Amino acid sequence: MDIAHTPVLPEETLYYLSGGLISQGVETGENELFVDGTLGEGGHTELFLSRFPNLRVIGIDADNAIVSVARKRLTRFGERVVFHTGWADDFFRFYPKDSGLLKPGIILLDLGVSLFHYEKGDRGFSFRLDESLDMRIDTTKDMPASDLLASLTEEELVSILFRNAEERYARRIARAITQARETSAINNSGALAEIVYNAVPVFVRHAKTHPATKTFQALRIAVNGELDRLPALLAAAFSALKIGGRLGVISFHSLEDRIVKNFFRDAARDCICPPSAPVCVCRGRRLGRLITPKPVSASEAELIRNPPSRSAKLRVIEKVYEDE
Ligand SMILES: C[S@@+](CC[C@H](N)C(=O)[O-])C[C@H]1O[C@@H](n2cnc3c(N)ncnc32)[C@H](O)[C@@H]1O
Repeated sequence: MDIAHTPVLPEETLYYLSGGLISQGVETGENELFVDGTLGEGGHTELFLSRFPNLRVIGIDADNAIVSVARKRLTRFGERVVFHTGWADDFFRFYPKDSGLLKPGIILLDLGVSLFHYEKGDRGFSFRLDESLDMRIDTTKDMPASDLLASLTEEELVSILFRNAEERYARRIARAITQARETSAINNSGALAEIVYNAVPVFVRHAKTHPATKTFQALRIAVNGELDRLPALLAAAFSALKIGGRLGVISFHSLEDRIVKNFFRDAARDCICPPSAPVCVCRGRRLGRLITPKPVSASEAELIRNPPSRSAKLRVIEKVYEDE
């Protein structure tokens, strides 16, 4: 089967997330539930299903096309895996508490998009290909990137480029986009890449990374609301986890990682009352225990084998207390 994406930090993810599993006796036959909130082509799920013979999985992805790929890839695991097309934030938000439904012992969120999207998505995720500028993960809802580019003011474009990608040349690029769209709509990834290329200073055009890299990242994040979704996704996933269960998050840029780091830090605090509170009202209970006080990055060997792993950071937290 033709798979585009190689799962990042495979051994590290298995190791840090399965601490819970092994201690809970999965190897001896107990059923355990793993929710892969960002299934993609099913790379991580395949690893977990192969390594833990009694594990069951719910695989979630907002992109119906990629769920079909994972479904084929994971056929051999039969009923041990069920698929759900939708946003993981919605899935966890509506995960029934106290319904007798098995609570997940492991949740993985491997954020962003997959190599599948860049190479086979046909939705303008890559500046290397000339495709229709869509960039939606869930193509059934919301606004494609071309419509967003047509509707934003220059100031809004600047703010998206700064906020979602810390783009140094945000002003120049936003100006070039607004000027270009006066002549014709920007409907293709090739056209956008060229506008950005011509907007940045000459010495940046020949740098190691393509000058449109951050613009494409910023636009994709805006189209899919990725940074806005993340805090709610983390809270809902952590809340769905059972006590002793582990949540692992793999992020790919500092903006995402900061949100994850802060969420984990707050969940692992002894007291979460604001400094101004005269007495502690949170009962001083830590909700979680940090399993990875520092983020885990790819080894030298993985960087050679799978270069996209270079910016991946894994953080894992264990749930120790249920917040009512
Ligand atoms: C980096 S890929 C996952 C790759 C996967 N771990 C593997 O090994 O094949 C991220 C996937 O998550 C999906 N995705 C991103 N954010 C999501 C969310 N909030 N809810 C559901 N799916 C999401 C994307 O469509 C993409 O397929």
